[in-house]
Amino acid sequence: MRKDLKRLDKKIRRNKSATKNKADNTNGGYKDGDQMVDLFKDFKEHSIAEFFKKNRQMLGFSGPARSFTVIIHELVTNSLDACEEAGILPEIEVEITQLAEDHFKISVKDNGPGIPEKYIGKALGKMLAGTKFHRYIQQRGQQGIGASGCVMLSYLTTGKNTIAISCFDKVRKEYEIGIDLKRNEPILRKISEQPTEESGLTIISEYKELKYEKSNKGPFEYLRRTALANPHATIKLKEPDGTVSVFPRSITVNPPRPFEIKPHPLGISAHDLLEFCQRYAKDYRKLSSLLQEVFSRVSANKVAELRTIVPDVDFDKNPALVNWEEAEKIVNAFKKVKWIAPSMDALVPIGKEQIEASFKNIFNPEYLVVTERSPKVYRGGIPFMVEAAIAYGGGIAAAGKKGEIMRFANRVPLLFDTSSCAITETIKTIDWNRYNLKNFEEEPIVVLVNFVSVYVPYASTGKLAIAPEEDVMDEIKFAVMEAARGMQRYISGKRKTMELATKKRLVMRYVPQLASDVAFLSGEKKEKIEKKLVEIIESKYSKEVEEEETKEEDNQNEEKESEEEVDVNE
Ligand SMILES: Nc1ncnc2c1ncn2[C@@H]1O[C@H](COP(=O)(O)OP(=O)(O)OP(=O)(O)O)[C@@H](O)[C@H]1O
Ligand SMILES: [Mg+2]
Repeated sequence: MRKDLKRLDKKIRRNKSATKNKADNTNGGYKDGDQMVDLFKDFKEHSIAEFFKKNRQMLGFSGPARSFTVIIHELVTNSLDACEEAGILPEIEVEITQLAEDHFKISVKDNGPGIPEKYIGKALGKMLAGTKFHRYIQQRGQQGIGASGCVMLSYLTTGKNTIAISCFDKVRKEYEIGIDLKRNEPILRKISEQPTEESGLTIISEYKELKYEKSNKGPFEYLRRTALANPHATIKLKEPDGTVSVFPRSITVNPPRPFEIKPHPLGISAHDLLEFCQRYAKDYRKLSSLLQEVFSRVSANKVAELRTIVPDVDFDKNPALVNWEEAEKIVNAFKKVKWIAPSMDALVPIGKEQIEASFKNIFNPEYLVVTERSPKVYRGGIPFMVEAAIAYGGGIAAAGKKGEIMRFANRVPLLFDTSSCAITETIKTIDWNRYNLKNFEEEPIVVLVNFVSVYVPYASTGKLAIAPEEDVMDEIKFAVMEAARGMQRYISGKRKTMELATKKRLVMRYVPQLASDVAFLSGEKKEKIEKKLVEIIESKYSKEVEEEETKEEDNQNEEKESEEEVDVNE
């Protein structure tokens, strides 16, 4: 270390004198070859933890307010994933205590399974480690850097390690956890151990450089939206000012458990294939058997087909010996085979009924429409599904919400990086005039989009926005347009009904006078004539409303057909 510092001092002195001599030296003060020698003296390896220490913004930790929400997001998504995986109805308690102006203590407690001692260090104190990265299963986490990123941030801003209390297998163990950033290895110290009847994990850590905001990107809103998309969870929040909010569950069963699927051949790259070959080489002696076992939809017949497409690749060879060229050839051959689509029942959406219940609970809108679309595939082989809902008027107007877009990925709210997200980008391209909304941003409307997949193509490691993949954007567009058609029908129906009601009211005004005039002329009773006239007017106007509704429905069907035609032609 001291040697390094001495060398740096020497270099700084030399750079200074080089800059001074620059004017009378054409090579910026260096002799030929000097630069190269210097450059490679500094050649060093560094760990992923050091990388993220320097680039913490890549984990979403940029800015005091945003970092706050990202911490809550990482810890709460882990709790939800763990509870669901263990089949436990989630009870999550978030407690935030302000210790000084920018200094906070955050505690997140869940009733999940906890973490066994063997794994707790790596799970929370090592980057790129976890139970989700290698699996094709719909979960909130996927990279193995969320929790460890929080442990690192806590240490970097306060110099303190994180406290983790794991209640697993009837034993409560309390640990202090940190990360050895140089080696990306956990630092773990057990503080106590005692029997317990509880299960779950509590993570308590302190952070500086944070700011608590009750804005629409702050922890409160984040948890409110989490509750909306996870009606089976009960979430409690204690804010720094002592306010306690509870978002109670509105259903008492966990959503169906998403199951793990094997990767589809169309969703992988040459690099992925090589990786699978290396990873499973010890389990399969032949490439052909590895392909059939590791990937979905690959049968012996399909391997035979692949053999005829790339005859120079030996499918009987040891998977460990497959090279890059061969992997590339095989992946290209995959594209020429007709595959059965990947299994779609691995996807678990929030569901129409649940979205309706949650919206009613939270906003009580005047009108709500939720789509139920079938799953699709992106990158040729990754199944996904888009749920869209539009809520209009009522509680939305009362809450002062205008043109709001609520983005979710696997039920996780996405509050940041709005402009680089496929959901926002797509919604912006929709011509809302077609749906009777002159100015989307000024209307009392909330559009919800939940993207569900076994692999979410996040735009960055911070998992705050969805990358603009073409297939994904198309499907988001169709889902939102489908919901918009429902809303348009409601708005134009409402407008027509209002117009007819005004007309009816005007005509009704003349009824008493007309009835008395006709009674005078005909000698009939005024009341009888008046009753008859009211009946005629009532039936006339309700018929008109009905006709309008049928006309609107026909228009909508035509429009839907023309949109789908555009889709096919595109
Ligand atoms: N509350 C929890 N209960 C049980 N296990 C947990 C909990 N939090 C984290 N884990 C375990 O620790 C691992 C690492 O968590 P971490 O958040 O770093 O990564 P991840 O959730 O796998 O992926 P991502 O980085 O995308 O969040 C998880 O994969 C999980 O196995
Ligand atoms: Mg996580």
